[in-house]
Amino acid sequence: MSLDELYREIILDHYKNPRNRGRIENPSATAGAYNPLCGDEVDIYLTVADDRITDIRFEGRGCSISQSSASMLTEAVKNRTLAEAEALADEVRGMLLGERDPGPDLGDLEALQGVRKFPVRIKCAILSWNTLKDALASYRAGVGRGEVKVVTD
Ligand code: FES
Repeated sequence: MSLDELYREIILDHYKNPRNRGRIENPSATAGAYNPLCGDEVDIYLTVADDRITDIRFEGRGCSISQSSASMLTEAVKNRTLAEAEALADEVRGMLLGERDPGPDLGDLEALQGVRKFPVRIKCAILSWNTLKDALASYRAGVGRGEVKVVTD
């Protein structure tokens, strides 16, 4: 199996069997994003305790890349500290934007680097990571609920 096929399989697996799908009642913070151009959306819910993400869920609909990226995100940041989650979001965003190579221990997230070959899909993969950053910012600001961002690029 080629690397591209492996990446595709990982993405499809997360799309068909999304991890941590659903919502958290009374979350510590949430944020959402909506792209009216394609209709895709994602909402992220966080429970934070002792500066650590102890639970995370997402809801959404849309293309396989946007939804599988959100699923991978929830697995990757669960039980990380807020600072670690923020650093990971920056790493993945940098990888997707071609600004840096992926680190050695990204696990399934490495599959997202296959998206770099298809520039119009980068926005799909990045949607949930930007939303995570919004949720973390809301939490830090003590707001809890970030506004749903409308993404048009
Ligand atoms: Fe809309 Fe993928 S086509 S985020």
